[in-house]
Amino acid sequence: MMSYFSEENSAEIVNGRIGSAALPRPAEVMSALVRHLHAFASEVHLTQKEWELGVEFLTRAGHLCSDERQEFILLSDTLGFSMLVDAINNRRPPGATENTVFGPFHVANAPLRTMGDTISLDGKGESCLFEGMVLDLEGNPIMGACLDVWSDNADGFYDVQQPGIQPKWNNRGRFITQADGCYSFVGIRPVSYPIPDDGPVGQLLALLGRHPYRPAHMHFLVTADGFQKLVTHIFVGDDPYLTSDTVFGVKQSLIAPFSRVENGQTAWRAPFDFVLVAA
Ligand code: BEZ
Ligand code: FE
Repeated sequence: MMSYFSEENSAEIVNGRIGSAALPRPAEVMSALVRHLHAFASEVHLTQKEWELGVEFLTRAGHLCSDERQEFILLSDTLGFSMLVDAINNRRPPGATENTVFGPFHVANAPLRTMGDTISLDGKGESCLFEGMVLDLEGNPIMGACLDVWSDNADGFYDVQQPGIQPKWNNRGRFITQADGCYSFVGIRPVSYPIPDDGPVGQLLALLGRHPYRPAHMHFLVTADGFQKLVTHIFVGDDPYLTSDTVFGVKQSLIAPFSRVENGQTAWRAPFDFVLVAA
C-alpha cells in the first residue's frame, strides 16, 4: 500500500522515489545521505529558524567561493570530514608514510629546483634544512620521485594569500630525487597560522568556541612512477596547536624532530624520510 510522507517514514518515502533507471552508486550514496540527514533533523528537533540559518550559511559559503577561495572545502576540513574521506581512501600498510589533508594553498607547477636550494625568498623567519630520503616499503631509495613542497612564511601567510607582498613562489618548490633517493632544501621553520576565518566557517568556529589555528607544518606532495601519491605534511614537534589542529590533520607519525643546529648553515634541521607504497 502506497503511503504519504510523514515524520515517521520520511527517509523511506524519499528514497522510495529512486527509480529503476538510477545508477547504482548514486542511488547508494544518496539514499544513505537522505537517511542520515533525516535522522539528524529528527534527533536535534531542527527548528524552522535553524533550517533557515543553515540555508543562509550555505548560501554565504557559496557566494564566497572563487578560484582563490573554497569555503565549502574549508567547512569540510573543519568538520573533520576531509580527514575522514582521506583516511578511508588512503589506508596504508605499517611503515608507509601517512597522508594528511591537502589544503587550499597548493599551486601546481612550482619552480623545479636543485637539491639544497632555498625556497624561502622573502628573507623572513628562521632557516631550516629539510632533508631525508624517499624510499619504498623495503627501504630501497626511489629515483625520480618529485617532492612538491610548500609552507607559510614567518608571518603565517602563504604567498598566494599575499600577492604583491610576498615574492611569487615564496616557500615553494619541486625537487626530483636522483638514484640515492635523497632530498634536501632550505626553507624556514614554519609557524602556526589561522585558516581563513573571515567568512561563515570562521563564524561557525567562533560559535562553537573553537580557534581557527593549524599547528606549524611543511606540506609535501610526493609522487613517483609506480607508487601511490602521498599528500602529507611534517609538523613541528613543540607546537601548542598539535592537539587542537582546526582541521584535524595531525598524526603522531608526521611529527618531525626539528632540532637546533649549532654552527651550521641553517638555524634548524628537520630530517624526515618518506616511504611510498607501490601503486
Ligand atoms: C593548509 O594546511 O594549508 C590548510 C589545510 C586545510 C584548511 C586550510 C589550510
Ligand atoms: Fe598549510
